[in-house]
Amino acid sequence: MKEISRVSTLYAFNSADELDEDDKALLAEAKKAVETAYAPYSKFRVGCALKLANGVIIHGSNQENVAYPSGLCAERVAMFYAGSSYPGIAIERIAITAHSGTFDLNEPVTSCGACLQSMLEYENKQHQPMKIILQGETGQILVANGLQTFMPFQFNREELKQ
Ligand code: THU
Repeated sequence: MKEISRVSTLYAFNSADELDEDDKALLAEAKKAVETAYAPYSKFRVGCALKLANGVIIHGSNQENVAYPSGLCAERVAMFYAGSSYPGIAIERIAITAHSGTFDLNEPVTSCGACLQSMLEYENKQHQPMKIILQGETGQILVANGLQTFMPFQFNREELKQ
């Protein structure tokens, strides 16, 4: 038996003023996107903003449905819009934030596994890491340089080879 370990690094900031200007601006856009969330069932509103390599910023928010699995997370709403409207343009960075209607969210929330897997697909497609910026309603901000941070052991196209 041998141990296989991969190191995962996150960068923590106490305030948006410590971020680089692009990250700070994108986090502000994600906070705007929270307002468009449709989350009558969970009361958990998620906002996200993507910055593309051509400078375009795309917003996304979670959209729920009475048939719960029919809803979609904020990240995938934004990424699928980017993929369909700007095919071939890399996603440079993604900022994600959330508000709860039932408790104070003062720490960052990590994207769900399905969203991370979708981000990974775009990252592999564009051959360029995606910067991820996370914050709750308030509190510390976490920044990751690429999906490797959250998914050190990945399912990718190599596994599909016959
Ligand atoms: N949600 C997101 O929008 N992104 C995530 O990465 C995790 C969860 C949404 C889905 C659902 O509308 C609500 O948050 C509660 O799970």
